[in-house]
Amino acid sequence: MRPVKIAGLGAYVPPGVITNDDLSKMVDTTDEWILQRTGIRERHKVAPGEATSDIAKPAALAAIAEAGLTPKDIDFIVFGTTTPDTIFPSTACVLQAKIGATNAWGFDLGAACSGFVYALTTAWKMVASGASDHALVVGADVMSSIIDYTDRSTCVLFGDGAGAVVLSVAGPDEPCLIDFANEIDGHGGDALCMPAGGSKLPATHETVDKKLHYMRQDGAAVFKFAVRQSGEIATRVLTKNGLTGADLDLFVSHQANRRIIEATAERIGLPMDKVIINLEYYGNTTAATIPLALMDARKDGRLKKGDLVLLTSVGAGFTVGSVLLRWSL
Ligand code: UT7
Repeated sequence: MRPVKIAGLGAYVPPGVITNDDLSKMVDTTDEWILQRTGIRERHKVAPGEATSDIAKPAALAAIAEAGLTPKDIDFIVFGTTTPDTIFPSTACVLQAKIGATNAWGFDLGAACSGFVYALTTAWKMVASGASDHALVVGADVMSSIIDYTDRSTCVLFGDGAGAVVLSVAGPDEPCLIDFANEIDGHGGDALCMPAGGSKLPATHETVDKKLHYMRQDGAAVFKFAVRQSGEIATRVLTKNGLTGADLDLFVSHQANRRIIEATAERIGLPMDKVIINLEYYGNTTAATIPLALMDARKDGRLKKGDLVLLTSVGAGFTVGSVLLRWSL
């Protein structure tokens, strides 16, 4: 297997912002409640007509440019998303055409909030095996397209955003991707889902009237699972590699709730100065949270070449994932 590195990183959020105060005019909530229970102050929202591929495009092009490549050099695209432009064709196909990656094949990957971690793992193994030389990994979601803005228990949590990395073969001494652990638990399906719009409940007037095309969440159940399993998967990857939290330079968790991230950091014995939390400005952007967090950590000088980094995510399904890597940019 060939060593694989992250050769380029890109991220994008649409300029439109919804603050907690804006939401408090729409539903019965307060800035204080949202900030205290989640850590979120504001989130971004696309303009009408803007789709997931539109916000993924600038992120993908930035990642490709940083890798010193052109879109024609990309031979494989994995697009993690829960809000594809359409059920079919895949958003990977739409993006391929939009960026002119004419030599790439690819597909969408549905793993909700673990979309980026799973897409990263998939593309990593493709490059490692020699099946791909330059793979584009995208995590992007327009969560505002499936949010019920009359439901205070979900509308305060999510935002729109996109992130991307390019994976290429690493040189012999270059920092590279090290290990991963992914797992699913399908018994958690009802705790976080969009009930209709698939083959089980195709769209009808009734499904629309019952608001079944919006996401639904049992927040407390997801919270409990996320705290337990995010700590468990992180510990498993670290232990397998003879490491503890003390060895990490940075912990980059999926950004859903500040309290989940703090509890996970505590479980793996990590001081908060080694943890990146940026959900304050984006909310939960589902598949985009981790590349957005990597981007902000790098901008703040908290992520440097050679750093030992652990990524961890928990999402609908349930999906759980973690990737250990040395940062290569
Ligand atoms: O990305 C993976 C997926 N998602 C997650 O990881 C999210 C996991 N869950 C969470 O982050 C938290 O469970 C929430 C932030 C969603 C909720 O926080 P909580 O501390 O678990 O609150 P709760 O659901 O137990 O609700 C407490 C109270 C309830 O009122 P009562 O029944 O105690 O009177 C809710 O109705 O807070 C109420 N509430 C709100 N109040 C003001 C729920 N949403 C709001 C709101 N504003 N936006």
